[in-house]
Amino acid sequence: MTHSLNIVILAAGKGTRMNSDLPKVLHPLAGRPLLGHVLAAADALAPQRICVVYGHGGETLPQAIARPELAWALQAPQLGTGHAVQQALPHLDAAATVLILYGDVPLIRAETLAAMRAIADEGALAVLTVHLANPSGYGRIVRDAAGRVARIVEQKDASADELAIAEVNTGILAIPPGLLGGWLSRLKNTNAQGEYYLTDIIAMAVADGVRVVPCHPVAEWEVLGINSRAQLAELERRHQANLAAALLTAGVTLADPARLDIRGTLECGRDCTIDINCIFEGSVTMGNGVKVGAHCVIRNAVIADAVEIQPFSHIDGAEIGANSRIGPYARLRPGTVLAEETHIGNFVELKNAQVGFNSKINHLSYVGDATVGRRVNIGAGTITCNYDGANKHRTVIEDDCFIGSDTQLVAPVTVGKGATLGAGTTLTKDAPEGQLTLSRAKQITIAGWQRPVKSK
Ligand code: UD1
Ligand code: CA
Repeated sequence: MTHSLNIVILAAGKGTRMNSDLPKVLHPLAGRPLLGHVLAAADALAPQRICVVYGHGGETLPQAIARPELAWALQAPQLGTGHAVQQALPHLDAAATVLILYGDVPLIRAETLAAMRAIADEGALAVLTVHLANPSGYGRIVRDAAGRVARIVEQKDASADELAIAEVNTGILAIPPGLLGGWLSRLKNTNAQGEYYLTDIIAMAVADGVRVVPCHPVAEWEVLGINSRAQLAELERRHQANLAAALLTAGVTLADPARLDIRGTLECGRDCTIDINCIFEGSVTMGNGVKVGAHCVIRNAVIADAVEIQPFSHIDGAEIGANSRIGPYARLRPGTVLAEETHIGNFVELKNAQVGFNSKINHLSYVGDATVGRRVNIGAGTITCNYDGANKHRTVIEDDCFIGSDTQLVAPVTVGKGATLGAGTTLTKDAPEGQLTLSRAKQITIAGWQRPVKSK
């Protein structure tokens, strides 16, 4: 039987070892706060309610997460994990299955949680445990003679025999409906740390005849918590290695899986190739046969089939049509839309510019707030002067134009179809279709001129 689901995320802890003014769970992993990862796993289960227990860092946490549908329970002071869940209790529905997550355990998989939920929906208490080579610091899973989970003992309360147990509590629990409140009300803090231990509910469940079912993650990384920047850096590498492995499996060639960072989602078609040290942020989609050169930073982009992006290019908020060639050292800023077969070369910056089929802007140019037609050639050093100090204006360059090098187009201005602008032109009025327009001082030579010489 499926019950509605409430999820409690514990995030009140201090995070002392981060040595940071930022609350621990706001530190980013793969470009997203730790708590954001946990919330995404929680969201995947479509819970009726999510309650985050917060404390350290105060209101910065709810403010930074900014999700009005979340319930926030303040825990001050922090008297242990059991006390933390007590603060959430008023926000919970007594008829719901309750899942307890940690805000600093970011890579927990929704599939693992769904399996635990299913167990709790059937009336058993699900405990996520893992066997560690070094269990030091964790609560140990104590089993009875028959091998059933009997209780959890914290490191500081454990006997020598118990310290030898390698199976540890990850902290993640799923609790059947109707039981949590009663158990929490019976917690005591008579232990080595003087804390209210949530883990004491395991022994209570056993005493009450509620079945306790141990569950396990697919891998250790799923349950690793972050307490220091060193652990954060390690888990970042682990997570990036997982993402790279998934790309390789999906048929993407990576020059070096260890030199790729994905901070968001990257979707690739068939036979894409990514060279070293590329960073993908936000949502990036690539078609088939896309090649990305070394040292590119690409965020929120849609890249069509067979596009080649050469090294050191920065792409942000752009769409690139099939068979286009970008870079090296190109910068595409938000609002850039390139049609098929465009060429954008070195030291070219585009912003809010729509460029038509087969047009080329190959060298040292700034094209902003512009509409560029088909088969246009924009020469080296061309600049759209789109900003008059107060407002932005558009430049329109129609199909088949040729813009000579070192031209300034003072917007608003239109270059008619098939027009040619002479090199060095400062265009302040529209250029008519099909004709040569140029603004240029007449070239003169002064006969007999001599360079000045230094006076003695
Ligand atoms: C807890 C478990 C331990 C388990 C370990 C896994 C208890 C008593 N012990 O250890 O069995 O092996 O996690 O990491 O539950 N938190 C609060 N309020 C508090 C205390 C903690 O919100 O008053 C939050 C922390 O922010 C953190 C999580 O709970 O997200 C765990 O806290 P932490 O102090 O790291 O774990 P322990 O209690 O030592
Ligand atoms: Ca503690």
